[in-house]
Amino acid sequence: MWIYAIQSLTTLISELFIGNFRMSYLRALMPALQNKKYFNYGGQGPLPTPSLEAINASWKIIQELGPFTNNVWPYVAGELNATRNLLAKICGVAINRIALTENVTSGCVLPMLGLPFASGDHLLISDCEHPGIVYACRELAHRQQLFIDILPVKQLRGGGNWEETTEQILLKNLETKLRPSTRLVVLSHLLWNTGQLMPISAVAERLSNHPNNPYLLVDAAQTFGQIPVKEAAAKADIYAFTGHKWACGPEGLGGVVLSERVLEEANPTLIGWRSLKHEGNTSEESLTPFHLDSRRFEVATSCIPLLAGLRSSLELLESENTETERLRTIQKLSFQFWSSLQNLEGVKSILEGPPPAGLVSFTLLERRSPQEIVNLLGKKGLWIRDLEDPVCLRACLHITSEEEEVKALNEAIEQSATRS
Ligand SMILES: Cc1ncc(COP(=O)(O)O)c(C=O)c1O
Repeated sequence: MWIYAIQSLTTLISELFIGNFRMSYLRALMPALQNKKYFNYGGQGPLPTPSLEAINASWKIIQELGPFTNNVWPYVAGELNATRNLLAKICGVAINRIALTENVTSGCVLPMLGLPFASGDHLLISDCEHPGIVYACRELAHRQQLFIDILPVKQLRGGGNWEETTEQILLKNLETKLRPSTRLVVLSHLLWNTGQLMPISAVAERLSNHPNNPYLLVDAAQTFGQIPVKEAAAKADIYAFTGHKWACGPEGLGGVVLSERVLEEANPTLIGWRSLKHEGNTSEESLTPFHLDSRRFEVATSCIPLLAGLRSSLELLESENTETERLRTIQKLSFQFWSSLQNLEGVKSILEGPPPAGLVSFTLLERRSPQEIVNLLGKKGLWIRDLEDPVCLRACLHITSEEEEVKALNEAIEQSATRS
């Protein structure tokens, strides 16, 4: 225990004061970052030790008070409430609009399946959505005789120069794809493959002027914990996120923000005791058995100790800096990486302008497949990932990334690109 504490303190002091003055305090608290150069925050963020300890402590409390006793319920209710409150604060919405979920996918799919579609309605889905969401839309269309249209966004590659041009092109594309019968638009906030940011407010605004006022489902897998989400979360009908990526929380816990009209118009889908106002007597049929707020989309028993872990990670992020300043740090690092790629022969970045956030995708014009490059870099202790559509490699930079790491990745890529 003491050895661990002294080791942690030594790492922290050396990390903070030697060599690199931009060092994040949080980085020193993440065991996953001590033995590798990690660039897969968009896949899963590293869990800080205090968050793991918060999970353990919560688990211990539950065992001591319960696990199934009258004494434990106030603690469980307090944990749920504190977490919903914190998520509501970060998303800038009232607590009744937050449901706790297990991951991004369930946050997107469970409310979507409950929307009041009519046979013949159209769903408009971007061409950069995650496969789980795409197949959920296809199955929904199949079951309810709906049609799917595709909104092209993959070619929007202006990067940080997006405000004018990307927004204009996207709105033009939207105009050509919207039909009178469009009932739902599905668009990620930050595209997981190209790294391009989508102008969610402008899309919401346009949809509100459509005679059918289509619902807007936003996959926020790549934004929550990375960029300020309040504006988009307030405007979307379904804004689904997870705690285990950029928020560096534990896997298995996420959330979704639902609009007031979704709460009024959508029926619960995967129904369980947590969707119900009262668990009691089922022999009398209630006309309104479900919670009126977002909890109607929660299901049943879940892992309560994870709540303390996610809150701990979110508080640690907050203690590093404001969300705007954190995004600035991320943009500085991703710009450093993106610009160094521009100087490498045989390497092409997917975005043509500076990345708006921390996702930087690129291709190597060489014989080896992206998977082989991932394996090769992995052997050197550098972890990035490959993607299939578009075929490319992706590196993510977070506030816990270091300039030295970015340089090392750049050098390793240069070596791979120039090796025949
Ligand atoms: C854009 C996007 N959506 C959805 C997912 C799936 O996330 P989860 O496993 O939390 O449902 C991911 C995971 O990488 C993603 O990047």
